Amino acid sequence: MTARIGIVTVSDRASRGDYEDRGGPAIRQYLEEVLTSEWEAVPRVIPDEQQIVENTLVDLVDVEQCSIVITTGGTGPALRDITPEATEAVCQKMMPGFGELMRKVSLEKVPTAILSRQTAGIRGKALLLNLPGQPKAIAECLDAVFPAIPYCIDLLE
Ligand code: MTE
Repeated sequence: MTARIGIVTVSDRASRGDYEDRGGPAIRQYLEEVLTSEWEAVPRVIPDEQQIVENTLVDLVDVEQCSIVITTGGTGPALRDITPEATEAVCQKMMPGFGELMRKVSLEKVPTAILSRQTAGIRGKALLLNLPGQPKAIAECLDAVFPAIPYCIDLLE
């Protein structure tokens, strides 16, 4: 079966069309380079509204049958940064090691990495993973955690 991977850009401005979404395409490009088996992207670009983020994550897992959902953006300290809260609200189980490791490797690149509250969790048989909004953060973070993802998904079967 072709794996489906949700790619969610959480950004008020990108969702309004004020600027082009660069995070979503960067995630897709990363996955195209690392994945060897067949997969299909299910992309979304949505505003930083908690209910919309929650609904989108639920739809991608429960309806679109994504086994992995990767978000970018909305993980910082600003009032409208609510991606981690939305992720936690729809997950049955949190996987804090993902956020810890991504912050650790990111701190070796930028001191502001501490500002990201990025996390990960499990909903049903899917892994939900937050990345910061900076496109350059995407490969930095995914390089660190990607080796653990296939085994994590296997354990959910
Ligand atoms: N992590 C990496 N690897 N590279 C970065 O440039 N930017 C940081 C941090 N994590 C960054 C990073 C900054 S400046 C912020 S404010 C937080 O992620 C949160 O970003 P977000 O609100 O766009 O998710």
